[in-house]
Amino acid sequence: MRIREATVDDLRQVDAICDASGRERWTPKMVVPARDRTVLAAIVDDGIAGIAKTHFHGEPEGGAPGGHYLGGVIVSPDHRRRGIGFALTRARLEWIWDRSSTAYYFANEHNTASIRLHERLGFQPLGRFPTIRGVTADDGRSDLVLFRAFRA
Ligand SMILES: CC(C)(COP(=O)(O)OP(=O)(O)OC[C@H]1O[C@@H](n2cnc3c(N)ncnc32)[C@H](O)[C@@H]1OP(=O)(O)O)[C@@H](O)C(=O)NCCC(=O)NCCS
Repeated sequence: MRIREATVDDLRQVDAICDASGRERWTPKMVVPARDRTVLAAIVDDGIAGIAKTHFHGEPEGGAPGGHYLGGVIVSPDHRRRGIGFALTRARLEWIWDRSSTAYYFANEHNTASIRLHERLGFQPLGRFPTIRGVTADDGRSDLVLFRAFRA
């Protein structure tokens, strides 16, 4: 497995991973890295096995601080539990640590896989919210948990 920056040419494979995972498809803009955000793809056997991005929010909003956020990691169901999500998250954190000493992330309170993965990388809960930056969980029936990690 190797990790590289994503490109717009990856969109078709990203669509397939989103579809297989029951997640909303990413737009072409979401797949392309920019100055203030990275998008990484995990490659296995010349195909994309996982995709992950960050977002930069310059201002606080509600209870959510401004800063760099991990903004979604999806691993193809065929490739889960092999360390790909962890590797994509560690790589995004390295990108953030070159720019900031703090990283944020939020997840549906019921997403045990995501929460365990991020806890292993040092994320600790800051609070629970019905909405964070316009995102809700289970159409508002569940809470989102906001996490923070610090550069070592
Ligand atoms: C969350 C997700 C990205 C994890 O990807 P993955 O490549 O399977 O994860 P890894 O193999 O790197 O797992 C690393 C650690 O995370 C935890 N973890 C991962 N999947 C887990 C699960 N289903 N249940 C419990 N813990 C889990 C474990 O601690 C695991 O270490 P271990 O396998 O040694 O026990 C994947 O399940 C996924 O794509 N889910 C759907 C999309 C999603 O929910 N994304 C997160 C949105 S915030």
